[in-house]
Amino acid sequence: MIRVAIVGIGRMGGRHASNFCKGAVKNAKLAAVCDIDEKVLSAFKNRHAGVATYTDFDKMLEEVKPDAVIVATPHYSHVGLAVKAIEKNISVLVEKPISVTVKEAEKLVEVAKAHKDAVFAIMYNQRSNSIYARAKKIIESGKLGDLQRASFTVTDWYRTQYYYNMGGWRASWSGEGGGTLINQCVHQLDILQWLLGMPEKIVARCKTSGRNISTENDVTALFSYKNYDCVFTASTHELPGENRFVIVGSKGTLVITRHMAVCKYLKMDEKEVNARAKRDYGNRADKKYTTKRMFYGLGNYITDALYGQQCNILRGFAAAVEKKDASLLRARGEEGLNALNIINAINMSAWKGEGVDVPVDPDEYEKMLSEKIESEKKIK
Ligand SMILES: NC(=O)c1ccc[n+]([C@@H]2O[C@H](COP(=O)([O-])OP(=O)(O)OC[C@H]3O[C@@H](n4cnc5c(N)ncnc54)[C@H](O)[C@@H]3O)[C@@H](O)[C@H]2O)c1
Repeated sequence: MIRVAIVGIGRMGGRHASNFCKGAVKNAKLAAVCDIDEKVLSAFKNRHAGVATYTDFDKMLEEVKPDAVIVATPHYSHVGLAVKAIEKNISVLVEKPISVTVKEAEKLVEVAKAHKDAVFAIMYNQRSNSIYARAKKIIESGKLGDLQRASFTVTDWYRTQYYYNMGGWRASWSGEGGGTLINQCVHQLDILQWLLGMPEKIVARCKTSGRNISTENDVTALFSYKNYDCVFTASTHELPGENRFVIVGSKGTLVITRHMAVCKYLKMDEKEVNARAKRDYGNRADKKYTTKRMFYGLGNYITDALYGQQCNILRGFAAAVEKKDASLLRARGEEGLNALNIINAINMSAWKGEGVDVPVDPDEYEKMLSEKIESEKKIK
């Protein structure tokens, strides 16, 4: 049984705490929580008597000596808190995003590399969606042939003005370090890079639409890979919204709509269809395909409804810490750098109004972000 502590017990940290307290993570016990807000702590105490509470993170680490810490605070504090724990050889599960800038995140990754006894993980809960895991295997198996085109539309994270007004740190460059990209889309951008790899170049346009916020809530980006392109579209202001990842290869097409996927496998590679054709639209028999459907599964819906998808990551993390085996993680902490590299590149492309190579220069990104924060202060 490992002893876990959580720092930041707001919406997400509070949910993680409940999962530990109701025994949803079998090999882990919640030993302590830390939050800088006394009111949050006293509400927590009423719900979970018996769990130690702290306002001082260092004191909690010193006194409780947990095996693992979950960092569930606003984005800018992730690196500082995680580094403090890992330097004491305490394992860390950091909420997404790993950080706001690649430059900051790299500091954490370096510290984690130097402390091999501490397991380092990131909360990429969408990786536990078996549809994406099976899609990854299909792509890697070569069953789709040579990839030719992809598109990922993510417009189903609807957020109202009420949501943005709720928390001071949300949707600001100074508080959150970005908008829909760093908060919501980091999940899908992780899935995108997990399945397709990292793009070489990005050209993007970001807008703020229909909400009084200073960050983007509407993104259109073109990701260039060696032999094909992927269009990424995201927004948090439109209804009903959709979540649709289309991957087209020379031997088949995969359409993933979050909880379902339709795979169409061609009888022969399109190149062969073309070579054999003695008529304008190709031979009907050569163009035949078989259709296979994949579903999320009732068990997954039930688990998600009871504990939230994040609980899958908590379970994998606890097992990895207990067995000292990082291969049990769904996502290793350093993998958090990939989606963050993409986000920093999208922002920089939009700010400059031109295409950028991935990764972008981390120092230049920090400088441009500071300018955004300064101009935000002038507006307020
Ligand atoms: N994985 C997911 O699906 C998911 C969903 C929502 C939020 N999140 C992530 O969880 C994190 C927290 O988001 P939230 O919605 O719970 O925010 P929140 O504002 O509801 O809670 C944050 C809490 O952290 C506390 N806090 C702030 N700075 C602190 C510090 N230095 N030390 C201790 N406590 C501190 C605040 O007082 C607050 O109680 C973010 O990284 C967010 O992106 C993840």
